[in-house]
Amino acid sequence: MTVVQMLEEIKRLKKEKNICILAHAYQRQDIWEVADYIGDSFGLSVEASKTDADTVIMCGVRFMAETVKILSPEKNVYLANPLAGCPMAEQMDVDIISQMKQSLPDYAVVAYINTTSELKTVCDVCVTSSSAVKIISRMPQKKILFIPDCNLGSYIAKSLPEKEVKLVHGGCPTHVRISVKDVEKARAAHPDAELLVHPECIPEVTERADFVGSTTEIMSYAEKGDKKEYIIGTENSIVEHLQFSCPDKSFYPLSKDCVCHNMFATTLSDVYRCVKGIGGEKIELDSEVAAGAKRCIDEMLRLGK
Ligand code: 13P
Ligand code: SF4
Repeated sequence: MTVVQMLEEIKRLKKEKNICILAHAYQRQDIWEVADYIGDSFGLSVEASKTDADTVIMCGVRFMAETVKILSPEKNVYLANPLAGCPMAEQMDVDIISQMKQSLPDYAVVAYINTTSELKTVCDVCVTSSSAVKIISRMPQKKILFIPDCNLGSYIAKSLPEKEVKLVHGGCPTHVRISVKDVEKARAAHPDAELLVHPECIPEVTERADFVGSTTEIMSYAEKGDKKEYIIGTENSIVEHLQFSCPDKSFYPLSKDCVCHNMFATTLSDVYRCVKGIGGEKIELDSEVAAGAKRCIDEMLRLGK
């Protein structure tokens, strides 16, 4: 079978079986070509809450597939590659966060959506990189305990000086690889380019950027911008996607090391096996965990509108 034949067969089968394929923006270009919706974590959650397909296949990481299952419990939800997990989602222990919550009764606990469903059950609301500042600014509480990404947390604290944000050490092992030296090198190599970075980068990098945003915010900024050159400070798949959508502009990775092996794990053949019914992992969640996590995700959707 060739790549073209596989693409065609996936498209045929998903129509025949009423399957919706959701893909995070970090997925490979060939997966983008079979996806019904491509977006950042917030967009994927909104899409998951409204799809009328019988089956949803998530091409992304585990917490994203769990979010779909929580929002659409009656649907068959599959994670296209069962090995694709977000290491940051596993960084915090539920018991430790519960204890912290008890010792900080006047704090609202806000979780990045990159957390396990179990962890979401002990949090008040979750947020994504594109919705965090908006959601937290709309919360009545002044004191916020933000977990687990201390880099996104610092960015939120700087954007909302009226809030008191307490952070717990954690973060994305992919974005923390980007250093100030990378910024200096890229600026020197491409002096006319604008630097666009994800808030999961360290503060020393985000404060040197021309624009800070989620994956889809970075893409739409570069697509609509007047500049001809952009340095991209997020997972390197975005460099290639932008080159496809804007062939007349130039895009450069801020660091060759900003590659997420978990996002890159899912291949077109995983999606093919999943639509055939011989691959992927069917997501099943404990009903109490799902109900607890849903409260946190529903609150995100309500405040993030
Ligand atoms: P966004 O898609 O919300 O920008 O998040 C990036 C990410 O790392 C997802 O795991
Ligand atoms: Fe997790 Fe970072 Fe990979 Fe996103 S890029 S899935 S936050 S490890």
